[in-house]
Amino acid sequence: MTTQVAGKCALSLFVNGRNYEAVVESRQLLVHFLRENLHLTGTHIGCDTSQCGACTILVDGQAVKSCTMFAVQADGRAIVTIEGVSQAGLNFIQQAFVNNHALQCGYCTPGFVMAAHQIIDRYKNPTEEQIREQLDGNICRCTGYASIVRAIAEAAKLQAEHE
Ligand code: FES
Ligand code: FES
Repeated sequence: MTTQVAGKCALSLFVNGRNYEAVVESRQLLVHFLRENLHLTGTHIGCDTSQCGACTILVDGQAVKSCTMFAVQADGRAIVTIEGVSQAGLNFIQQAFVNNHALQCGYCTPGFVMAAHQIIDRYKNPTEEQIREQLDGNICRCTGYASIVRAIAEAAKLQAEHE
């Protein structure tokens, strides 16, 4: 439960399976809370217009741009960041990105990987069209997207084979 104390709020949330309690400015964005308070700097900031998707995380299993939420809105929620999906080394989506050369500078990659988790959860065996449509909120300035789409299709196929 969020408690207001003179412009500040107490919050309690789960991040990558760990419980955190904190007192934050009520105006602090979730992306800043993750990066500055929890030092989870894998969640990137690539714009100030909520367009690039570099800050994408999972909130209760849904892909969310963490620059579009206040930290206090995450009170009681379960959050997964890029660090959470790679605790045991590269996960299957990251490996598919490597296999398909789906990154160059890598700045956008954490956001794409988190978005890919939701795509694969939602569609199991997504078509190229579905992948492209679902990536509408993520911008990559380097790759031209084709290799990213291939990587997500490969990851989905791998996941389906293991189910
Ligand atoms: Fe969140 Fe660009 S930093 S969408
Ligand atoms: Fe550079 Fe996507 S790999 S922005």
